[in-house]
Amino acid sequence: MTEFHLPQVLEIERDSFVLPWTEKLFVEGLRSPITTNLVLVEDGVVGAYAVFYIVEDEAHILNVAVRRNRRNKGLGFYLVTEVVRRAEQAGARFFFLEVRESNSAAQRLYGKAGFVTVGRRRNYYSETGEDALVMCLAAPELPEAPETEVCGPIQNRGRKVV
Ligand SMILES: CC(C)(COP(=O)(O)OP(=O)(O)OC[C@H]1O[C@@H](n2cnc3c(N)ncnc32)[C@H](O)[C@@H]1OP(=O)(O)O)[C@@H](O)C(=O)NCCC(=O)NCCS
Repeated sequence: MTEFHLPQVLEIERDSFVLPWTEKLFVEGLRSPITTNLVLVEDGVVGAYAVFYIVEDEAHILNVAVRRNRRNKGLGFYLVTEVVRRAEQAGARFFFLEVRESNSAAQRLYGKAGFVTVGRRRNYYSETGEDALVMCLAAPELPEAPETEVCGPIQNRGRKVV
């Protein structure tokens, strides 16, 4: 992700979350030496993005979203798998994230990627008082790029993760 992608990223962000990240937060992530910001681009259009940071052997996934009209086609799974692969290559052995208790779609996505629920943060989301579930993936095997009908090899489908 670069600042070039931010208008599209912000459009997806504002369409995806009750409390969307601001442009400033994304810019800070782009400038942070410990943060990685990925966009999945399909034929020039941002379809999904993810933000994570690594400290020692821990990776924390901070943000994942898929463009509404591109959901349920495997992009989220592809991107989370790519995050795990890249973070593991950078030395991460443990992966953590928080997800709203009500966000069953995201929980299933992370579950499919191997994450398990290990904890709960009460009243984590201040605007509604909703709890966050803490999900973790420990010392994963390096996942193969998924080669399904929907999400074949990225280089063959006009897609790239940058
Ligand atoms: C959650 C989100 C990232 C999923 O992305 P996606 O590209 O639609 O997900 P995929 O197509 O890769 O689906 C992967 C798995 O997630 C689960 N899943 C995805 N969407 C789902 C839905 N609407 N209901 C139930 N399960 C769902 C399924 O288990 C699916 O695997 P399957 O198709 O083999 O059953 C997307 O819905 C999104 O951007 N939501 C808004 C932002 C958000 O909630 N981000 C996560 C914050 S923690």
